[in-house]
Amino acid sequence: MQGKNAVVTGGARGIGEAIARVLARMGAAVIIWDVLDDQAGATARSIASDFGVKTAGMGVDVTNGESVEKATDRTVAEMGGIDILINNAGITRDGLLIRMKEDDWDKVLAINLKGVWQCTRAVGRVMLKARRGSIVNIASVVGVMGNAGQANYSASKAGVIGLTKTSAKEFASRGVRVNAVAPGYIRTAMTDKLTDEQRKRMQDLIPMGQLGTPGDVADSVAFLASDAARYITGQTINVCGGMVM
Ligand SMILES: NC(=O)c1ccc[n+]([C@@H]2O[C@H](COP(=O)([O-])OP(=O)(O)OC[C@H]3O[C@@H](n4cnc5c(N)ncnc54)[C@H](O)[C@@H]3O)[C@@H](O)[C@H]2O)c1
Repeated sequence: MQGKNAVVTGGARGIGEAIARVLARMGAAVIIWDVLDDQAGATARSIASDFGVKTAGMGVDVTNGESVEKATDRTVAEMGGIDILINNAGITRDGLLIRMKEDDWDKVLAINLKGVWQCTRAVGRVMLKARRGSIVNIASVVGVMGNAGQANYSASKAGVIGLTKTSAKEFASRGVRVNAVAPGYIRTAMTDKLTDEQRKRMQDLIPMGQLGTPGDVADSVAFLASDAARYITGQTINVCGGMVM
């Protein structure tokens, strides 16, 4: 990863921060794009001091095309290029389909799906020009298997898997690979919001009987982002303790 520049969206905390840390440990320079501007800067500084790599934190809203284009230009100007893009920013707004508010549908689709397209479009241009790059999208197993109470979220993550395949087909001949990682139930701020009953229900579905960690997801992301996966594109790896087979 030495000499590579990696952008991680939503990298200020949680799974994104774990991904940024693994990439930095492997020698990559890491640029965190997160709507939490201050936290993006603090996480970037902490990673720089822990791993001795160049880092930057930028306030970016992935739903806003102008914000994404500006961040892409700034990243290229400051770092010299972008080799790796991890589309990780995502939210949940859970509720039963019949009672779901339109705003909750729109917000989740805007961040989780449109945000991935927006960042792929902006950074993809840079990668296609350079004729190299690797993009990893963070989907979810519920995009494959569905989940009661997550109509918006599961639709957005199924969309991410479809978008991954289409981007992979469009970019393959120009040396840019696009893959996805679909985490199962991972312990983060996002899943801490679940009720005990929801948590128990999820845990019962995991053949390995335990929750995953952000590090478990990050290791698979780093593999797909690296040259070790040079002949892999358009694929989704489920990192879920066997929840989906
Ligand atoms: N935690 C899990 O069990 C789990 C399971 C499957 C998939 N995922 C996916 O993993 C990814 C990370 O989730 P997490 O659990 O670390 O969540 P998290 O809430 O801890 O982190 C999400 C990050 O995204 C950022 N973000 C939110 N909206 C943004 C926007 N508009 N622009 C830029 N950044 C924005 C947040 O500020 C935050 O730093 C998400 O895509 C999520 O859907 C998580």
